[in-house]
Amino acid sequence: VTAISVGPALPGQAGWLSPGAAYARALSGETCAVVRDDGTSSPLQAGRWLAAADEPDRELFVAPCAGPTLDVGCGPGRLVLALQQNGTAAHGIDVSREAVEHAQACGASVSRADVFSPLPEGLPGHGGWAHVLLADGNVGIGGRPVRLLRRVRDLLGPGGQAHVELHTGADIGVTTRTLRLHVGGRHSTSFPWATVGPDAIGRLADQAGLLLLRLDVSGGRRVAVMGHGR
Ligand SMILES: C[S@@+](CC[C@H](N)C(=O)[O-])C[C@H]1O[C@@H](n2cnc3c(N)ncnc32)[C@H](O)[C@@H]1O
Repeated sequence: VTAISVGPALPGQAGWLSPGAAYARALSGETCAVVRDDGTSSPLQAGRWLAAADEPDRELFVAPCAGPTLDVGCGPGRLVLALQQNGTAAHGIDVSREAVEHAQACGASVSRADVFSPLPEGLPGHGGWAHVLLADGNVGIGGRPVRLLRRVRDLLGPGGQAHVELHTGADIGVTTRTLRLHVGGRHSTSFPWATVGPDAIGRLADQAGLLLLRLDVSGGRRVAVMGHGR
């Protein structure tokens, strides 16, 4: 984490971007930083999400998935594409129109949808998925990981597994922060995001009705694999 000066970020300031608009600019190649409420910031890893799946991606999210797989917050779709190329029935959902359009243009099966809303028609719904992915820190979506994990649990069928990437930085436990994106000299409005460390995932899984089955590790990344707990 690097502290860089990105100027004042005061509510009411003119010229705010929506987080979606800032994210779209990052996906189109503009340099973008994630600014935390404590003033620290780090680059948004849009370049990695736009690239093809790498070896750790494949080991952590492609190899373990053998049935219908839903990638929640799939971004430009690199994991969905890699799953499809591996012969797995995969679908991604994301709230970002630009991310979804990018994924679809690459041939990935992706829909624009909010994970907390009913899934688009034609897709399996509750209990219909063998695997649900929360990759790249997506367990942070919405800032309330237990709520999100409960939603994931409901989507999983009997014997289904959730693959949840954990935080590798300094934060341990569960930390919910207010973030902004900073791109082209402008800030976005704020949005909540949580990080979950390996020490906390067992407790959160329990609260969400999931059972921690194992921890997959590759390339310094850690993914908790969970099944129905009750
Ligand atoms: C950290 S990025 C993950 C990138 C992605 N895993 C990839 O491979 O490109 C978080 C993603 O979650 C999406 N997102 C945020 N809130 C969401 C929600 N409520 N439902 C679905 N997707 C959401 C964002 O648009 C963004 O693409």
